[in-house]
Amino acid sequence: MRLTVIGCGYLGATHAACMAELGHDVLGVDSDPERVHLLNQGKAPFFEAELNELLVRHTCSGRLRFTTSYAQAGSFAEVHFLTLDSPQTNRGGPMDLSHLLSAVRKLSPHLRQPSLVVGRSTVPVGTAARLADYLKRISAAGTRTHLAWNPEFLRESTAIHDTLYPDRIVVGLEGEDAADDEAVLRQVYGPVLRRGAPFLVTDIATSELVKWAANAFVATKISFINAMAELCEATRADVHQLAEALAYDERIGAAGMWPGLGFGGGSLTKDIHGFMAAAAALGTGQSLGFLREVDAVNIRRRTRVVWLARHRCGGCLDGKRIAVWGAAFKPMTDSVRDSPALAVAHALYRKGAQVVVHDPMALDEARKSHPHLTFSEDLVECTVEADLLLHLTDWPQYRTARPEKLTDRVARPHVIDARGVLDPLRWRRAGWTYECLGRPLVPYQATGPDGHLSLRC
Ligand SMILES: NC(=O)c1ccc[n+]([C@@H]2O[C@H](COP(=O)([O-])OP(=O)(O)OC[C@H]3O[C@@H](n4cnc5c(N)ncnc54)[C@H](O)[C@@H]3O)[C@@H](O)[C@H]2O)c1
Repeated sequence: MRLTVIGCGYLGATHAACMAELGHDVLGVDSDPERVHLLNQGKAPFFEAELNELLVRHTCSGRLRFTTSYAQAGSFAEVHFLTLDSPQTNRGGPMDLSHLLSAVRKLSPHLRQPSLVVGRSTVPVGTAARLADYLKRISAAGTRTHLAWNPEFLRESTAIHDTLYPDRIVVGLEGEDAADDEAVLRQVYGPVLRRGAPFLVTDIATSELVKWAANAFVATKISFINAMAELCEATRADVHQLAEALAYDERIGAAGMWPGLGFGGGSLTKDIHGFMAAAAALGTGQSLGFLREVDAVNIRRRTRVVWLARHRCGGCLDGKRIAVWGAAFKPMTDSVRDSPALAVAHALYRKGAQVVVHDPMALDEARKSHPHLTFSEDLVECTVEADLLLHLTDWPQYRTARPEKLTDRVARPHVIDARGVLDPLRWRRAGWTYECLGRPLVPYQATGPDGHLSLRC
């Protein structure tokens, strides 16, 4: 089939490459000419495992190309995916849908043949109905232009796998041509469906809601175990043992029950805030009141690390040299969007510490967003003369690093493991003081609202 994918960022570039991999002929459209140029050379503008290979394979095979031209997009295909970003206007505020609207406005005059436009962005309920109405009014094909909603559940760092082997495909359809639109989408996803992925057809409102509901649940699960970590710190219990004991309960399960520094990235925080703002606008704000606490617990983990760091440095961070392992918001990505690690590094810097950050992949992105911090390309060099080492992003190379090689380089061998994956025995044997969130050596102390606010990225 011939398809376009409009908005070639994280979601769009991945979707376009994967659609070509499924055998379709794909044209990606983006308003950024530099991005289009890179993608046409088979280069991803960000790191995502396997994405470069797919881009190279399919830009070479001729099944995948990119353009800035909406006119080309309109005549190229009859199925158009919308994968534009939907950021928040401000923290806690509604989503900014201007990119989505602008793309629809630019595409519509070029839709001369009957077309199916498929929204994939995360949007407030009601957006798709408004866009469907708008498309029918302004597209050249009028009522022969249909809209479907097909939320995306991919996770950065496993985006290609999540797209080619999804847990489920959800499609929101309405109107008298819904059966025809369903048949088109079943054909688009044919190879994936033949591998057994469930295909759920819902009304449009449900399809818009499901993505926010999924992310709200995941965020709640992470904050739940992190709230338990706070209790463990207050009672000298061990949250990792607690999490394991909980995970055997089939109603609870192990996924997402790993305590640590909490969530970050481009989706979870943005989505729970967007969800709360949308619920408040609908007059059902109370239903999602618990998400405020989910967010607060998440931010308190960052505050707790800053508090522990100051405690370890004798109550004052001024002039203290702190080595930070990790800048990406999670391993296997170079994305630093709402990175908990950088939020902590920045807070320490603001309190007077000399912060040196290492990351295996995200240093360029971190330099752009936090130019005031110092960066090191080498995880050992990063620790030289450090008064404290913080392990903030769970990259495999930190787990396998040899603490005995660092002991003589640092000023004081103290490590705080905010991800709970370093081997305490090994670090202690090498002469280090090891502390881990949820397994404290120092008593828990509640942190005030100032810390809470200043630790947002
Ligand atoms: N990143 C994720 O992990 C993820 C996962 C699932 C869903 N989502 C959702 O997918 C959507 C896209 O997110 P993203 O992370 O890919 O965003 P992004 O910021 O990485 O990409 C957006 C792209 O759209 C382009 N763009 C903006 N306006 C345009 C226009 N008028 N015409 C053409 N191109 C335009 C930008 O240049 C950019 O390349 C969001 O709604 C997000 O919530 C993201």
